[in-house]
Amino acid sequence: MSEREAWGSRIGLILAAAGNAIGIGNLLRFPNQAAANGGGAFMIPYIISLLVLGIPMMWVLWAIGRYGGRHGSGNLPGIFDKMWPNPASKYIGVIGVSLPMIFVFYYSYIEAWCLGYAWFSFSGDYLNTAQQTVHLTAYYQEFLGDAPTAAYFPGLGMAFLFMGITLVLNLFVLYRGVAKGIELLAKVAIPLLFVFCMLLIVRVFTVEGQGSVIDGLNFIWTPDFSKLTDANVWLAAAGQIFFTLSIGFGAIEVYASYVKEDDDIALTGLTTAATNEFVEVIFGSMIAIPATAVFFGAGAIERIANSGSFAIGMISMPEILRSFPYSQFFGSIWFLLLFFAAFTSSVAVSQPVMSFFQDEFKISRGKATVWLGIIWAVGVTPVILFYKYGFFNEMDFWAGTLGLVVIALIEVIIFGWIFGIVKGFEELDRGALFRIPRFVKPLIQYVIPVLLVYILWQWALGFNPNPPPKVDVWVAEPAKFAGEVIPGNGEISEPDQEAAAEVGAKLGSLVEDNGGDGLVHATVLFRTDGSLSVTSAEGSGSLASMNDAEAIATYLRGNGYQYQERNGENGAAVATEKEVPIIIRGLYMDPYVWGARGFMILMTIFFAIMIFIAWKNRGSEVAA
Ligand code: PHE
Repeated sequence: MSEREAWGSRIGLILAAAGNAIGIGNLLRFPNQAAANGGGAFMIPYIISLLVLGIPMMWVLWAIGRYGGRHGSGNLPGIFDKMWPNPASKYIGVIGVSLPMIFVFYYSYIEAWCLGYAWFSFSGDYLNTAQQTVHLTAYYQEFLGDAPTAAYFPGLGMAFLFMGITLVLNLFVLYRGVAKGIELLAKVAIPLLFVFCMLLIVRVFTVEGQGSVIDGLNFIWTPDFSKLTDANVWLAAAGQIFFTLSIGFGAIEVYASYVKEDDDIALTGLTTAATNEFVEVIFGSMIAIPATAVFFGAGAIERIANSGSFAIGMISMPEILRSFPYSQFFGSIWFLLLFFAAFTSSVAVSQPVMSFFQDEFKISRGKATVWLGIIWAVGVTPVILFYKYGFFNEMDFWAGTLGLVVIALIEVIIFGWIFGIVKGFEELDRGALFRIPRFVKPLIQYVIPVLLVYILWQWALGFNPNPPPKVDVWVAEPAKFAGEVIPGNGEISEPDQEAAAEVGAKLGSLVEDNGGDGLVHATVLFRTDGSLSVTSAEGSGSLASMNDAEAIATYLRGNGYQYQERNGENGAAVATEKEVPIIIRGLYMDPYVWGARGFMILMTIFFAIMIFIAWKNRGSEVAA
């Protein structure tokens, strides 16, 4: 058997582990989750989840990983097989390779957006500093192929290009291996990341606008005790802790598997969590949220965050940065920061699959990289092509939200009950630079499993197996109209709302019954008092029969749609009177969402078969 890889130095390991945990989760997902869940309301469950779930789980993963590495495996099928000598255990570990693989498909796509946007910032493509006419929402959605318009991007070419570059960069680092690839990348990227954060913080804290930086900080840091009874806030907080610490992906375990048998893991695990939390809570809350508060006012933070998971990072931040001096520079820094954060995470979450091929099939790193590259290229293609149909979101739900909790639950049960808590703590204590408090034992054995089951149960209750068709409204010519058509929050009478719901249901059922997408092109006169009239409407595709201008008016009116331009005081968005060509789009989601699920199941079956082949090949090796 060839010698397993190992970390080159202790500082390298710590930086790599920090790079693993620090990612999009810290700089985009955290501020967005915090903002969408009421800011200060979110922080209490967040900190409790960190202490009760996050840190103990971190120790479990480091112990599992180092134990596996000592026995020659860095991936969960291999590790479970060693911790629990039962023919089924390796198959239970299959989601420990299939889910990280699936996660990589869409996570690396976000990484590619950041690389793309770093380039678009650097080249000044959307900055257009003189007029700032580029419609950033449309720009972003067209880049992803999620818009019915093509004012800025004719197709998915750019998305594929930056994904291709991202893929090659990742494979290159993985090919170079643990010490010469991943560790070296972390040694460059993590210090750079700190410098970039400092630059952006200074930038954000020295600008003036509608609101103030302090409003933004108050928004995050003023606790709201009344939200403590809202289960959803708790679920979001626990989910964020898992995501940001890379728990439940096999990624921490595989890094731990390259640690030497008697090297400390207790302090290393804690340091990883602490570094990650520092970047998340300090840097993650001192850039995007205060910037949004300054530019849009603190009152707008929650609404923007709720308008989409990436709205703050990909739409608001460019909008903010381009309005200040040196926008090309700071725009590039913001997106390079995100890119490097994501890069050190995507190599981490690919490594379980690398280890699966290297450790279980005993193939070389080069061959493993080729295998990984092929699967990756195949997997990311539908994510890009079918982004608008929710392919991406579906993967995010199963792999990035639910799946990691399932994996963590399996791990904690194997560690606490099957491998045994006593043996588990012996493993944790060996070489430890400090003694882990003993009250962590009952947390691992009882409290965490119960909480995880509860979380899964709550999600199961909220699950909707059949996604309704998506119906949304667009400005038809974004390059000519700077504003956005959005549902306003004015008072709408109940009969108006009901009438609109009826039209909405009709739009949905046409899309569903005709089994395809549809568009309605309409021209709408929006007025400042919130009233509107529709002068023409023409349907096509599955919405071909929607030529009824009055029905469209009813729909828009009852949903409170307004046309808002950023021409208020200090650039505030206000309802504006204008005749605007719009598009109502109906997307037929079903086949794609089910396609995504089928694809993920196939991926898992594929790895199950690979497990079968790997173990068959090596004959009847007895677990030590
Ligand atoms: N923790 C990373 C983040 O915050 C995401 C990640 C999950 C990375 C799993 C590696 C493994 O973005």
